[in-house]
Amino acid sequence: MIRSASDPGAIAEAVAVLVAGGLVGMPTETVYGLAADAGNGEAVARIYAAKGRPRFNPLIAHVADLAAADPLALFDPLSRRLAEAFWPGPLTLVLPKRADAPLSDLATAGLDTVAIRVPAHPVAHALLEAFGGPLAAPSANRSGHVSPTSAAHVAADLGERVGIILDAGPTRVGVESTILKVEADRVVLLRAGGLARSAIEAVTGRPLLARTHAEAAPVAPGMLASHYAPTAAVRLDVDRVEPGEALIAFGPDLPRGADGAVAVVNLSARGDVVEAAARLFAALRELDGLSETIAVAPIPHEGLGEAIRDRLARAAAPRP
Ligand code: TXA
Ligand code: MG
Repeated sequence: MIRSASDPGAIAEAVAVLVAGGLVGMPTETVYGLAADAGNGEAVARIYAAKGRPRFNPLIAHVADLAAADPLALFDPLSRRLAEAFWPGPLTLVLPKRADAPLSDLATAGLDTVAIRVPAHPVAHALLEAFGGPLAAPSANRSGHVSPTSAAHVAADLGERVGIILDAGPTRVGVESTILKVEADRVVLLRAGGLARSAIEAVTGRPLLARTHAEAAPVAPGMLASHYAPTAAVRLDVDRVEPGEALIAFGPDLPRGADGAVAVVNLSARGDVVEAAARLFAALRELDGLSETIAVAPIPHEGLGEAIRDRLARAAAPRP
């Protein structure tokens, strides 16, 4: 059931759903999350079931602020500096889990690390404060689908599996949080996201490293190929649109053949990657079903372009 987040009583109603072990569609500044009590194994199991998500893929623990993160994990100095610089905001830190952390093993998929994030959205913040504990929340889509940037997207993917969806309108950032892990003095990028590389490097004073193959396999299974997939095939970096394709454009100039497209969504006519990130997932959902193929114009690598290109590459990857 969709409920306006600004209705009096909406937060209290959502808390009641969480306390009872149910699921809440929670707006954040990145995408909508599917939240449950991170300390309640049965509630967390409902997340996996609702999403059709493999249980080896751990969930992010959301907390209201840095003080609420301390009981969950051990912060090295560099991770703490990043948290102080960017929380609340679209940054997730992977940290060594405290042995007595009030988290269900299912939420962390049995790992000895935990991914933590402090969302910068007034409704998420109000919900976390009112609930008073960590909330496990993956993106509120069926596993492998495009992430939701509106309450309607959540309802379309999950419907009655969610107790209540708090509607706070379209999300501001539009791509998921950037996930980092600090190892000694290395800062490793596990997932490009809503916080740009340049902002992170300005704080750490060192280049962000790509994850190694060994890190990629067990720690971040949800970040492998064929994620964020619409039903349609996706063709990237096109300079020519084939007749009958749908087109995702970027910037003032359209690729050749754009007149023959069955539908066109321009992510940002003025060529702004921040605006484009906010519109990406809605565009994929909108064009899906209108054509067998979605052609995508080149997107720059800079700023949030890194996250946009990452999500599009996954959407275009061969499907299992
Ligand atoms: O912006 C976001 O991060 C959104 C909103 C709702 O907060 N959440 C989100 O969650 O994108 P999800 O579950 O769709 O993606 C979380 C990713 C997964 O790929 C998972 O494998 C990875 O984080 N992850 C979680 N815990 C981890 C850990 N301990 N080590 C490495 N990766 C982890
Ligand atoms: Mg997801």
